[in-house]
Amino acid sequence: MLKLIDISKSFGGLKVLDKISLEVKKERLGIIGPNGAGKTTLFNIISGFVKPDSGDIFFMGKSIVGKKPRDLANLGIVRTFQITKVFENMTVEENLKVITDDLSILKDFDLESRRKELAKNLSQGEMRRLSLALALARNPRLLLLDEPFSGLSKKEVEKILGIIKELGGNGTAVAIVEHRMGDLFNAVERVIVLNEGKLIFDGSPEDVLESRSVMEAYFGKRYVKG
Ligand SMILES: Nc1ncnc2c1ncn2[C@@H]1O[C@H](COP(=O)(O)OP(=O)(O)O)[C@@H](O)[C@H]1O
Ligand SMILES: [Mg+2]
Repeated sequence: MLKLIDISKSFGGLKVLDKISLEVKKERLGIIGPNGAGKTTLFNIISGFVKPDSGDIFFMGKSIVGKKPRDLANLGIVRTFQITKVFENMTVEENLKVITDDLSILKDFDLESRRKELAKNLSQGEMRRLSLALALARNPRLLLLDEPFSGLSKKEVEKILGIIKELGGNGTAVAIVEHRMGDLFNAVERVIVLNEGKLIFDGSPEDVLESRSVMEAYFGKRYVKG
């Protein structure tokens, strides 16, 4: 579905992504890595908000480098942001109506009783669910979620996990950047690890914590026993 070939990006003198090659199929993919590893930049590039310095990206067989976020969303690449973006002074229902007349999705996200509430009055968990609902209302083929669990209670995380797990089943690919690894590994089939702009692991959630290079990236070489 998505294929990245040698994607590189620098900001100033800092190499943030260094020749990342990656293929994403119809699967649930988790992306982890220390702060500053380049995870959000990777999402920004895939979704057209940032242009790579070099490399190519294919989506459904066509090169998409240089396309605008709106055009990519129409092709089916939809993302959420680390900081939730909704129209705060519009109600839940009005936010959804910007995208679709089909309001049935509110039920799936347990937001039906809140439909007349202004978005700014929602709890953090409700806000996150609304932004996910808005992303899904666009019928994505590839959904990019940037830290969907941050700041949420265990109960809220479980609600969102349930929704994400169903996504794999209906043929939507999902890539999730998330620090809460326990919850993430429960939701995904495959994990990649970025460190200082490089892809240092690609495998199963079971194997990632066994990886020496991953442990070194997180804890430093001298803390990993040889
Ligand atoms: N638009 C930008 N301009 C300059 N530097 C940036 C920009 N976006 C990200 N960076 C830098 O790139 C590095 C990686 O950032 P980011 O992709 O947000 O990492 P992550 O999401 O893995 O924490 C950081 O050092 C960050 O400061
Ligand atoms: Mg980030």
